[in-house]
Amino acid sequence: MSNLNPISAQAVQQAVDHALASVEAAVDLAALKAARGSIMGEQSQIVALNSQLGKIPQEFKAEAGKLVGQARGAISQAYASKEAELAVLEERAKLAAEFVDVTAAPATARIGARHPLALLQETISDVFVGMGWEIAEGPEVENEWFNFDALNFDEDHPARAMQDTFFVDPIESHLVLRTHTSPVQVRSMLDREVPIFVLCPGRVFRTDELDATHTPVFHQVEGLAIDKGLTMADLRGTLEHFARSMFGPEAKIRLRPSFFPFTEPSAELDVWHPGAKGGARWVEWGGCGMVNPNVLKAAGIDPEEYSGFAFGMGIERTLMFRNDVKDMHDMVEADVRFSEQFGLVL
Ligand code: DAH
Repeated sequence: MSNLNPISAQAVQQAVDHALASVEAAVDLAALKAARGSIMGEQSQIVALNSQLGKIPQEFKAEAGKLVGQARGAISQAYASKEAELAVLEERAKLAAEFVDVTAAPATARIGARHPLALLQETISDVFVGMGWEIAEGPEVENEWFNFDALNFDEDHPARAMQDTFFVDPIESHLVLRTHTSPVQVRSMLDREVPIFVLCPGRVFRTDELDATHTPVFHQVEGLAIDKGLTMADLRGTLEHFARSMFGPEAKIRLRPSFFPFTEPSAELDVWHPGAKGGARWVEWGGCGMVNPNVLKAAGIDPEEYSGFAFGMGIERTLMFRNDVKDMHDMVEADVRFSEQFGLVL
């Protein structure tokens, strides 16, 4: 069949189809470049056909040359447009990856917030430092003698009993987790020269279950004043100033007769405060009294020459009245969202 062109239109079409399929299959510029040789380079079918052109009989050359030429044109055009399309996509992806929103709000790291009990303890301390008092501290693991005996507790006083006090093993060590801040009174009297005006804030421990109004670990603040001629009027005036500093200028106090081994006379201290959401009310705030002469003697101070007054109250309770905190759990759990409401966010 000498009138048949050895480079058939079918063979040319096949070479084109193969090349275009390879162009289409390239997912990115690197893949397209890697396939370039088999699409239109040395290893491609179309270049193989092109190199046969010189070997075929003269009469077929013009027609075959035209077919192969058009095919090469179509392939290189497909290649070029695919290359341009992939280049645009890659540029776009790169820009998206490098995008910086200069109008976005900066990410601020949340560090925490001061716990309201720590803040209140400082506020209370400031009130007394403002009156010239000093801040005193004592150990949380305390000798039984300081926690009870020196404070005039009887040998069989119920407060010593197992259900209130955490005793430290072994029992002969006579160590307890202090049940109140009052032992710091005795330590202060032994450590310091009279006159003494000290405030002792700190952590105390009792074998209570955690519920809405109790926690086995809580905080108290203790006050002690020893000087010549101090009377109950001085105690009252000090507590009134303290109450107004805590609950506002309208706050009032009242003292109700009571009993504590380390004071004589002793009183329960109630405070009337305008109230947050709860409305104005009287609440029991703490205990107080004139330091019992036996306590002065235990600390080596002559009760004939000096007298003193003392008071103690819970800081958790104070926070509850002052800021209308209803549940002790909130103070214990240390959720930063609770603390943040009291303002000092770090
Ligand atoms: N220590 C007492 C308690 O934990 C509170 C107290 C009452 C302290 C009377 C005092 C005071 O200084 O005079 O319940």
